[in-house]
Amino acid sequence: DMGGHDTYMHKEISEQPDAVDRVLRGRIDDRFSTVHLGGLNLDAREARTIRRIKILGCGTSYHAGMIGASLIEGMARIPADAEPASEFRYRNPVVDPDTLYIAVSQSGETYDVLAAVQELKRKGARVLGVVNVVGSAIAREADGGVYVHAGPEVCVVSTKCFTNTVVAFALLALHLGRIRDLSVTDGKRIIEGLRRLPEQISEILKLEDEIKELAAEYAGAQSMMFIGRVRGYPVALEASLKLKEISYIHAEAYPASELKHGPLALIEPALPTVAIVPDDDLLEKNRAALEEIKARSGRILAVAHQEQEKADHTIVVPKNEDELDPILMGIPLQLFAYHTALAMGRDIDKPRNLAKSVTVE
Ligand code: F6R
Repeated sequence: DMGGHDTYMHKEISEQPDAVDRVLRGRIDDRFSTVHLGGLNLDAREARTIRRIKILGCGTSYHAGMIGASLIEGMARIPADAEPASEFRYRNPVVDPDTLYIAVSQSGETYDVLAAVQELKRKGARVLGVVNVVGSAIAREADGGVYVHAGPEVCVVSTKCFTNTVVAFALLALHLGRIRDLSVTDGKRIIEGLRRLPEQISEILKLEDEIKELAAEYAGAQSMMFIGRVRGYPVALEASLKLKEISYIHAEAYPASELKHGPLALIEPALPTVAIVPDDDLLEKNRAALEEIKARSGRILAVAHQEQEKADHTIVVPKNEDELDPILMGIPLQLFAYHTALAMGRDIDKPRNLAKSVTVE
């Protein structure tokens, strides 16, 4: 049942305010400015002994894990990084007893992720799951975890589950942070930010008509470039993946800082750039990248907290806390991919060559 929407993708994008509300519900502890995660199966003493966190997932879940890693590093000051699950599995990784492994999956059935979890467990590692489907194979194999509570996702490409997975990581980061060195004040600040998300997502969804008009302009493009820095880079990767998957437009994502090391050679009027430009400590750096692109007559669509002078168009989104901004900045680009694909007459819920859950190697 699409509940009045033309596609499941549109329905699922629209459901995000409620979905985010669901992943937060019942978990916030205002008294101690932390969160309770019932299924984590990791007590405070154990949480203090973690030396490193390795996050494993595929596709969109991998991108959500990249943002998760930066949330954990920032709030809990535990070195963390994300890696595609199958790459991890086949490079014969050093499995370290002081590392906490986290498997990320919407379906909980992705074979590459499941196999990585099984290999880790066989070697005695502790593995948590950040999973959407309750009782799925990865959820069962893991020692504990955080359910994402996005609700059923039918469209082959993931939207609301991406957003909810990142929020679930923010909760985990806050929880670990408050056990370690995150102050009460910072805990409060993050909690207040989390509570603002559903309302701010609703505001962003109201930009749909504007985004639809923009998408019509870009629908004929042969290729597009997506750039961001640090937290904005996984947002660029995910937006680029979404566009590729449903419109079949070729797209690349780069850290903005890498442009001058090669991809700047591609910039010309026929290759538009989508830039993630949050109002944070990297704003001036990002603006410098826009200038470089403009100097080569590149067309620029910015997602930012204020109009960008160098951009041909800016989608202005509400500001949250710096840490949580990536959650909001991804949402207009889901709509952008959607309307670009729609303008090109694509079968949005069932893109060619793709399956919702990849249970084979
Ligand atoms: C992207 C997409 C895929 C999945 C990937 C992992 O829109 O749908 O990239 O994210 O196959 O799937 P899960 O999260 O079910 O493990």
